[in-house]
Amino acid sequence: MAEFLNGHMAVNEKGHFMFGGADVTELAKKYGTPLYVMDEALIRENCRAFQSSIERCYGGKGMVCYASKAFSCKEIYRIMNEEGMGIDVVSAGELYTALSVGFPAERIGFHGNNKTQQELEYAVSNGVGRIIVDNLTELELLEKTAEAAGKTVSVMFRIKPGIDAHTHSFIRTGQIDSKFGFALETGEAMAAVREATALRHVLLKGVHCHIGSQIFDVAPFAEAARVMMRFIADVKTETGIEISELNLGGGFGIKYTAMDKPPAYDSYMEQVSIVIKQMAGQLGVEVPFVYIEPGRSIVGAAGITLYTVGAVKNIPNIRTYVSVDGGMTDNPRYALYESQYEMLIANKASQEKSQTVTVAGKCCESGDLLGKDISLQTAEPGDILAVLSTGAYNYSMASNYNRIGRPAVVMINNGADRLIVRRESLEDLVKNDI
Ligand code: LLP
Repeated sequence: MAEFLNGHMAVNEKGHFMFGGADVTELAKKYGTPLYVMDEALIRENCRAFQSSIERCYGGKGMVCYASKAFSCKEIYRIMNEEGMGIDVVSAGELYTALSVGFPAERIGFHGNNKTQQELEYAVSNGVGRIIVDNLTELELLEKTAEAAGKTVSVMFRIKPGIDAHTHSFIRTGQIDSKFGFALETGEAMAAVREATALRHVLLKGVHCHIGSQIFDVAPFAEAARVMMRFIADVKTETGIEISELNLGGGFGIKYTAMDKPPAYDSYMEQVSIVIKQMAGQLGVEVPFVYIEPGRSIVGAAGITLYTVGAVKNIPNIRTYVSVDGGMTDNPRYALYESQYEMLIANKASQEKSQTVTVAGKCCESGDLLGKDISLQTAEPGDILAVLSTGAYNYSMASNYNRIGRPAVVMINNGADRLIVRRESLEDLVKNDI
């Protein structure tokens, strides 16, 4: 019997792969492929696990905000609202989607290193809870925008804590050479705090950092917390301002393959909270209200993608290409980061994985692969290939390259399925063409 990545996966009596209590081979028949399948029970379980950790570590002084860039559509915002989560958004589009299902604006944090004036006006007029200011240009624009709207906005400053987390260079964000945030080392962050004190429509409530994504070590998170607490204390000494909120971002690694060994998030939370409390005591500042922003760790393992196998091309002594009906358009992560995934033939889940193959997409690009040297059951045309842990940064990073429509998304909850995002049709592909 195959070993699976989590307890929401199994094999039924037909030898079919089950995810979230559903036979996904049947889902592929019902909805077509490619198809994203999300497990609602696991998403909610993940939210609750983070919330109970935060509650345990900080009492009522903490909040979990889902980083919705990982997977954004109306239904996920409804679920986050029901779970009492906050969210982070990074564009007018994400904000619009959240507001369109009645997500409370005060529980939204708005990120981005180059928010446009229209985006700021939209966020301010809708009363977004926190705007996470990235740079001085934005700070000045926001002051004018808030003044024009007759409002005072609560902000956090995005800080680069100077931490170099060991992850892919494209998803590393805490080091000084990063496009995100104010640098500490150069005095830029402190100068920005001083500037904020002179503004009448911008209220500096907190500081924010996010050191990167898919990180397995606790140490860089603990170090970032230390640096941020020191900054909060320095701000108090130098300006008299007491910063009452600390947002530590997201970035918690997940299990894509059996090789990945993420730490238990609860122990991570605890270790970081110990640092924060110790530092607060040593530095003579209050323990701040703490936010975290997990994205991948909420939805990543709660999603899989189903494809239909088409051509199987064996190149003797070189490799076997198994081509599927999707690819970099629905999952660009192998092309971008050489991300590794666990895969299986869903309708042959009880069989041995006897082949090593390269799984290719259908785009006109040699780099359009979903993985190399993947161990798989014997793949034949018509089989259903399941790629696991695709819930984060797949649908949200999908494109229409080659004029391929984005797949549908189905949500399952203890075996019951419902469509939450329709498949893009050929008409959808031309709807903006003139
Ligand atoms: N907070 C901020 C400010 C962020 O920029 C991000 C992710 C998160 C939270 C959530 O990080 P997570 O918990 O999901 O690691 N496309 C890449 C990942 C980019 C992450 C961008 N920022 C990928 O597919 O791996």
